[in-house]
Amino acid sequence: TMADHLRRLESLFTLTPQRMRMIVEAFKEALETGLEKNDQVVPMIPTYVFGWPTSKEQGDFLALDLGGTNLRVCLVTVQGNGQFELTQSKYRLTEEQKQDDGQKLFDFCAECLKTFIESNFSGENEVKAPAKLPLGFTFSYPCSQAKIDHGVLIRWTKGFGAPNTEGNDVAAMFRKSLEKYQLPVTLTALINDTTGTLLASHYVNPKTKIAVIFGTGCNAAYMERVENIPKISKLGIDPSSEMAINCEWGAFDSFEHEHLPRTKYDTIVDESSNKPGEQAFEKLISGRYLGEILRLVICELIDDGVLFLGQNTYKLEVAYCFDTAFLSLMESDPTDELLMIIGIFSHFFAVETTLAERQFFRALAKLIGKRAARLSACGIAAIVSKMGYLDEGCLVGADGSLYNKYPGFPDRVHEGLVDIFGDKGRNILTCRAEDGSGVGSAIIAAMTKVRKDAGI
Ligand code: BG6
Ligand code: GLC
Repeated sequence: TMADHLRRLESLFTLTPQRMRMIVEAFKEALETGLEKNDQVVPMIPTYVFGWPTSKEQGDFLALDLGGTNLRVCLVTVQGNGQFELTQSKYRLTEEQKQDDGQKLFDFCAECLKTFIESNFSGENEVKAPAKLPLGFTFSYPCSQAKIDHGVLIRWTKGFGAPNTEGNDVAAMFRKSLEKYQLPVTLTALINDTTGTLLASHYVNPKTKIAVIFGTGCNAAYMERVENIPKISKLGIDPSSEMAINCEWGAFDSFEHEHLPRTKYDTIVDESSNKPGEQAFEKLISGRYLGEILRLVICELIDDGVLFLGQNTYKLEVAYCFDTAFLSLMESDPTDELLMIIGIFSHFFAVETTLAERQFFRALAKLIGKRAARLSACGIAAIVSKMGYLDEGCLVGADGSLYNKYPGFPDRVHEGLVDIFGDKGRNILTCRAEDGSGVGSAIIAAMTKVRKDAGI
């Protein structure tokens, strides 16, 4: 019966506090190993963003954000003292663009930037454009960096697959596109969205020590002392200085799959993805995958003759057709009859549901959403415990569609932290971040300028 299935799924998707603590220990070890040596599973990427902003940073900066779902162009005026102004345009990326040649993707970015500059720096409300505008490029994929304005793409994540890009310096590729379109900009910083979010959140609230993105992908950044990054000890950087680390924690437990409680549905998601074996942690958590996990459970129960008896369910058989936003909607349906869930299934998938089925779907969404939040708490706990932030407490700047739109997600992360740390877990609070890829990249571009002017 459906109740039996729910019980079985409950035990598959539920994480006990004890299990969570085991994951935290393994996670901590992975973070340490990543800092020690190059090319580890969790790459712990040094970002060449040195320390926190001073709040004296000022100026006009352009920011371009190539995330997982949208392309955004922003003009940010950093005013100092935690203040800023922002103008932006958004462009949706098509699935084809994600798989088309890499240089073409950067050409598209340059084209959008051109349109943005033309509409913001001409006409009656002309903002006075300096000869060359500094541009921060938020490129939210793992890139290994040797300096701030350079980065070699280690691997695409979040379903991207554009050929001729992995292994290349994406900053150089983007510069080529900027030249092609003769844009009056200088690419001064290549940053990850987590690094941008870390700096932007700290700029407005200095209690922020960690930033996490819960969106199409999932990843974190924090500030590390250079002396604790053995793999860059030979570079002659002042060991007492600090550098932001882009953890790329979505890769935790990739390949070997030793630590995470993966179900058979997770294995299918992984094996049918364009990157089997990779981003093991992210695939259990991020918005790109949660809907697909739920869909796979539903499809199994259709095959077993448990759900939608006698109905044509072909529309549910398409991979990734079940958007993670549907999970949010199902969990937040306020009606006893679960009318919203009726709507989702009849409108998008042309099937009728019984009340029992709808209650089952809602319970299932809750299991999957809760597991995602509790696993994220394990990652946060690993950084907190490694850095010794528990007693003093800290803020975790958080952003992304899952964090901002999934009902109860932040509370579930907080509950998870209490399950791991006990009462002290309450000292760690997530809070909605300032726009990382806009404001954060502008602040980083400004910090880079200050260092350049000072000849560092
Ligand atoms: C945005 C941040 O709000 O969230 C970006 O400004 C980040 O920096 C993005 O990349 C991630 O969320 P999603 O849901 O678009 O992947
Ligand atoms: C993926 C990317 C990472 C990014 C995250 C959130 O995990 O690899 O770079 O920070 O998604 O957007």
